[in-house]
Amino acid sequence: MDNKRGQWGSTFGFLMAAVGSAVGLGNIWGFPYKMGSNGGFAFLLIYLVLAATVGIVVMLGELALGRKTGKGPVGAYQSFAKKYTWIGYMGIVCGFLILAFYSVLGGMVTRYMVAFTLQLMGVDGFAGQGGDFFGFLLYDYGGLIFFCMLFMVTTLVIVMGGIEKGIEKFSAIAMPALFFILLFIIIYVACQPGAGAGYAFMFKPDFSVFSDPEIGFFGVLKSAAGQMFFSLSLGMGCMITYGSYLSKSENLQRNAFIIPVADTAIALMAGMAVMPACSAFGLEYTRGPGLLFATMQTVFTSMGSFGNFIGFLFYFLIFIAAVTSSISILEVITTYQIDKTIAKGKEPNRKKISVLYTVAVFVLALPVALDALGSGGAAIQAPYEMLGIEYKGPGFAMWNDCWLDLYDLVAEGILMPIGAMIMSILVGWVWKTDIIKKECELSGAAFKGYKYFDICFKYVVPVAMAFILVAQMMDFFG
Ligand code: PHE
Repeated sequence: MDNKRGQWGSTFGFLMAAVGSAVGLGNIWGFPYKMGSNGGFAFLLIYLVLAATVGIVVMLGELALGRKTGKGPVGAYQSFAKKYTWIGYMGIVCGFLILAFYSVLGGMVTRYMVAFTLQLMGVDGFAGQGGDFFGFLLYDYGGLIFFCMLFMVTTLVIVMGGIEKGIEKFSAIAMPALFFILLFIIIYVACQPGAGAGYAFMFKPDFSVFSDPEIGFFGVLKSAAGQMFFSLSLGMGCMITYGSYLSKSENLQRNAFIIPVADTAIALMAGMAVMPACSAFGLEYTRGPGLLFATMQTVFTSMGSFGNFIGFLFYFLIFIAAVTSSISILEVITTYQIDKTIAKGKEPNRKKISVLYTVAVFVLALPVALDALGSGGAAIQAPYEMLGIEYKGPGFAMWNDCWLDLYDLVAEGILMPIGAMIMSILVGWVWKTDIIKKECELSGAAFKGYKYFDICFKYVVPVAMAFILVAQMMDFFG
């Protein structure tokens, strides 16, 4: 391994960083709200099946490709053949798009964390808005930009520190902290009267959503698949990047198993904090994205004075989750430039590179911060107006009036499934699953379940990805 790039210091540190990348807003916000609006248990079941088939397999593929080539996605694909380089670039584009909206959402989480801290100190943290804070915050552009910057600077400082001394060091402390805070909140919520209905919604077998004409089986499948992908940080080269910093003695198969299991466990735990809390206070969990910012704030303010403390803990935990994810995205972009500099025979300057790209991401984040998440009456024009896109067919509403949705659609909806599909096809059919096996066996541990992985690379993953893409297109064009 090239020591100009750096390397993880320990297996534990790597795992915390990788689980940290996976565990993010996708788990603590996306998972409960998508589960809430997609029939609870039915969604969970499909999610688990997908994680075991597609998730673990793509995870292993990415980690192995990263470690084999010792490069981020662009360099990794390029080292097989120049004609594959573009697949790596898709990951870089995804990185910019995801980080652009992630930083705005991360900024909002930071703001709630500060608001509850102020409440604890006896100051009105909600700027006189009480439960209407979310509605106020969306139009407080100065605040949104300020907190987005604060969140990005936190991300930047960690990435500047490098792989072992920055990302690993932070994750090794932050992730265990996140786990214990979440556990504490779960126990506290479990003691609230009325919490039981929340657990029942999550764990009681109920498939009535499949006969719901608006959602149905395929609707649930599509949401679960998209969620699983985003939540595991797959399809954009994040795990290729983290894998590229692994030593050859690491047991890749074991790691590719631990990361999805931990990610799913945390998502479930987040559900067990959020759903029962809602049911205890008579609030709905099926209300979609507002769950994290509007509904949960109401929950904490209804808990009385202790609620300020729990509220602070809750948003602090989401802050940790969001930062450990955003550093992994910034690292994808930073690694790309580092690899390029090394390939030119020059000395890479990690600090300079990461500052430069953070500024670029920030510029891209501005439209997301200035359009009030498409709530109307915003400071800037909606994507369709600004970009002059005339298409007004059905499905248009998905991305017409919200920059976040547009970035998300391009990244999570299109580029990430394409990325994972092509990787699986290349591994399964062109390079053959054997290259993964060989890379894994470098650690000395035997590769287990070859046939299973082979079938998944060849058929299951490509078919599942094709399905997501078709479903996406159908949504898009009505
Ligand atoms: N997995 C992160 C989450 O659940 C988001 C993410 C996506 C991180 C892609 C890195 C790469 O929030």
